[in-house]
Amino acid sequence: MDAPYIAVARTDAIPPGTFVKVLIENRPYIVANTDGHYYAVEDNCSHEDYPLSFGCLDGDRIKCSLHGSRFSLDTGEPLDEPAEDPIATYRLRVENGQIWIDPSSPANRAAPRE
Ligand code: FES
Repeated sequence: MDAPYIAVARTDAIPPGTFVKVLIENRPYIVANTDGHYYAVEDNCSHEDYPLSFGCLDGDRIKCSLHGSRFSLDTGEPLDEPAEDPIATYRLRVENGQIWIDPSSPANRAAPRE
């Protein structure tokens, strides 16, 4: 796999309905498996800069454990208040059991974190 894709996890390390937190250049990301479909999103709630990895999956959504907003893992859009802004999503590929993500820019054009 060519740059900017980076290998982040093996598929067998993320069973359906679970996620892992990965660090790329000290920036945290969530790689989730929702029944065989993989997603990569930033590990940061858009409401109050709180780690989404403290939360849980709800189907193809991730729920923030602080105030309960859920975000689409596909689009990054918030589905509940109080969050109003999307989280960043990232392009992801799976090849021979290896998961790769492109952290170079958000796939949903959310503002990159500085
Ligand atoms: S910090 Fe996530 S919903 Fe408030």
